[in-house]
Amino acid sequence: MEPAGKNELIISDVTLGYGRVPVIRHFSLPPLRRGSLTALIGPNAAGKSTLLRGLAGLGDITGSVRLDGQELVGRPRAERAARLGYMPQTLPSGIGLSVLETVVGALRASPPANTRTESPSAAPIQRAYEALAEIGIAELANRSLSALSGGQRQMASLAQVVVRRPEVLLLDEPTSALDLRYQALVMKQAVRLARQHGMIVLIVLHDIALAAQYADQIAILHQGALHDFGTPANVVTSAMLAAVYEVEARVEHCTKGTLQIIVDQAE
Ligand SMILES: Nc1ncnc2c1ncn2[C@@H]1O[C@H](COP(=O)(O)OP(=O)(O)OP(=O)(O)O)[C@@H](O)[C@H]1O
Ligand SMILES: [Mg+2]
Repeated sequence: MEPAGKNELIISDVTLGYGRVPVIRHFSLPPLRRGSLTALIGPNAAGKSTLLRGLAGLGDITGSVRLDGQELVGRPRAERAARLGYMPQTLPSGIGLSVLETVVGALRASPPANTRTESPSAAPIQRAYEALAEIGIAELANRSLSALSGGQRQMASLAQVVVRRPEVLLLDEPTSALDLRYQALVMKQAVRLARQHGMIVLIVLHDIALAAQYADQIAILHQGALHDFGTPANVVTSAMLAAVYEVEARVEHCTKGTLQIIVDQAE
């Protein structure tokens, strides 16, 4: 029998915020399994970024976050960073380094904690190139990060996280600046990383249709608390959109089975 919590990320009774005011209160999720992709959705200011930052080890968090049965809360930041890769919503700008240099820098700053990589012994530069090629931006390798478009910078930032092959991938709105093709590429890549490398992927998204298309399960955060958790078909409903987003909306299924959301009224 597997030891308790093996291959799972278990978030339980987590509270965190800024100063004395908690934003996330006693938040728990069902276990997130290796190989799965979970979308975290919810209105502006619901606490999605706060939660992700807390899971990544930024900000004071109480409660329990266990990976493979091991408690992460209270562990040193570097140890958490090696196991959980975090891409923030707001990206740093104005760095005069090339894209490749920033990816190599990310690899050196936080080497992978495990050996589940395809080429663990490869030189950092080779691994960085591979990461850029993997997400389809090899041609940006020698461009200066400060001279990229918003979407290009978002892709470069993603490369800095995936190159480390973390066990848990925490991505805060990684597709918000991307065109339709790159949105699909990033989501497919996230699914592939989950399935092929056994990563646990948690992605914040505002595009609920995109979340429904690619996520195995969706967690809905509302005012710092979990509103619902389940498969896209079960949780994305008109009733949820009314209760959480305060819109009158229809959820339609297209012929290929994907969900479409049509907002009829917002006040
Ligand atoms: N650095 C901060 N100091 C104080 N309060 C903050 C800080 N960052 C966020 N907050 C507050 O915490 C709450 C949750 O913010 P958070 O950024 O987690 O929301 P979010 O769900 O990520 O929203 P969005 O979809 O707009 O990114 C908001 O009320 C916000 O004003
Ligand atoms: Mg946010």
